[in-house]
Amino acid sequence: MIRLENLQKTFVVDGRAVPALNGISLDVPEGEVFGIIGRSGAGKSTLIRMLNLLERPDSGRIAIDGRDITGLSDAALRGVRQQIGMVFQHFNLLSSRTVAENVRLPLELTASGSRAEQDARVAELLELVGLAAHRDKYPSQLSGGQKQRVGIARALANRPKLLLCDEATSALDPQTTQSILDLIADINRKLNLTVVLITHEMGVIRRIADRVAVIDGGRIVEMGPVAEVFLHPQHAATQSMVAELSHADELADSGLLDSATGAVWRLTFVGATTHEPILFDTASRYGLSFSLLQGTVSRLKDLPYGQLVVEWHGEAARLAEAREGLSARNVVVEVLR
Ligand SMILES: Nc1ncnc2c1ncn2[C@@H]1O[C@H](COP(=O)(O)OP(=O)(O)OP(=O)(O)O)[C@@H](O)[C@H]1O
Ligand SMILES: [Mg+2]
Repeated sequence: MIRLENLQKTFVVDGRAVPALNGISLDVPEGEVFGIIGRSGAGKSTLIRMLNLLERPDSGRIAIDGRDITGLSDAALRGVRQQIGMVFQHFNLLSSRTVAENVRLPLELTASGSRAEQDARVAELLELVGLAAHRDKYPSQLSGGQKQRVGIARALANRPKLLLCDEATSALDPQTTQSILDLIADINRKLNLTVVLITHEMGVIRRIADRVAVIDGGRIVEMGPVAEVFLHPQHAATQSMVAELSHADELADSGLLDSATGAVWRLTFVGATTHEPILFDTASRYGLSFSLLQGTVSRLKDLPYGQLVVEWHGEAARLAEAREGLSARNVVVEVLR
């Protein structure tokens, strides 16, 4: 669906070169939810804006749906852009238009269908995003989450094949973020729409992406299926973003780590393993005792996922065996102490 080859972009600000992208190559197959994560200034927005050529690369190639769009004129790009919906962090709604009129806007701009057909399409879209009851309200009368639902409905108006989301949930509280991510996941499934989303939050990636690219300083430093990148982060940038999700700060604050006298491990479980009595099995098999210092459960897209911080007491040799035993059962073991 998307193929990027060696994209380069340097901005020139006051005669000074500001490198933004430095050799980005990636492929996104149709129907995938592809996440791009990176710190502020990493180049995320520049990259996503290149997918519809709102930003042109200095060199490299961009192909959408098998078609090279890199050299297209603005006129030729108009047709391509109709195939691409975009959702923004700050919604970008027109305050003078009602919900229904905002959603209708792309249909008016492309003169698609009669007035009655547009009405029907708008009604269908508002139903899809759960805003049918709010069609005549103005943006100022909506919550942030509702505004983003309008933004999503508007992005889908022309039946795009690709949806681009630039920090679509960054202005929302955690609960509203979940409901918007669930909506995007639902749309991805129902419409088999390809989704590219950028974010600085690992939690967003974890919740809905199939694959992820980590960008740092304009380069992809790590890329792969979310479970793999998440469980075995290789690059320092990835490791620090994953660490933010593991509540490491709270554990440090609690003082439990400092007062521990045994070995402290963080265990990460994914999928079926989450349901197995692994701690008890391990303790009895290797003659260890344990206490639980911290625990969280969540999801990696559709997989259950859990993290436990456990303090173990027992013989060193048995501990080493236990560690191997856990790894053999696909539990990721990090030694914290
Ligand atoms: N229009 C522009 N003119 C000049 N420099 C720019 C422009 N757009 C981006 N840059 C620079 O390119 C680099 C990458 O910026 P970009 O906006 O892509 O980062 P980002 O990852 O989206 O960051 P954030 O998370 O803060 O949105 C930065 O150094 C930024 O200052
Ligand atoms: Mg940005």
